Amino acid sequence: MTERTLMLIKPDGVKRGKMGEIIRRIENKGYQISAMKMVVPTEELLNLHYAEHVGKPYYPSLVNYMMSGPVVVMIGEGTNIILGWRTLMGETNPTKAAPGTIRGDLGREWDGEAMMNLVHGSDSLSSAKREINLWFT
Ligand code: CDP
Ligand code: MG
Repeated sequence: MTERTLMLIKPDGVKRGKMGEIIRRIENKGYQISAMKMVVPTEELLNLHYAEHVGKPYYPSLVNYMMSGPVVVMIGEGTNIILGWRTLMGETNPTKAAPGTIRGDLGREWDGEAMMNLVHGSDSLSSAKREINLWFT
């Protein structure tokens, strides 16, 4: 089924000059990018985007991380892209993410701070719809 998903290049990805590399991987895979912009997210937007993480011990550092610079916000389209994009991203912890994935190839853990892992992808049809509406109002 053709799906739409929200893809983010997080501030570490932008600061480290990985935008081109990440977009190249999306295009090489064959997915369409149907919308793209750069924004520095507000705390209000992040509270909605990461609603299920509000109150977790790492949440304040996650917000600082996500507001530390511009984020590339994209809508991706393709058959089964929600699963496919999360497979390209790799697992959340970049130390454990498999080589060949974006997080596995380009990321690592750093002392303190939130877990910086370069990219975000919606995890279900319902979160994709919700997140696209939040970031593209
Ligand atoms: O991004 P993903 O869906 O793979 O992971 P998540 O469990 O939904 O967590 C959202 C984000 O919170 C992660 O991508 C990390 O940047 C951050 N996080 C963290 O800093 N420390 C944790 N223990 C878990 C998540
Ligand atoms: Mg998630």
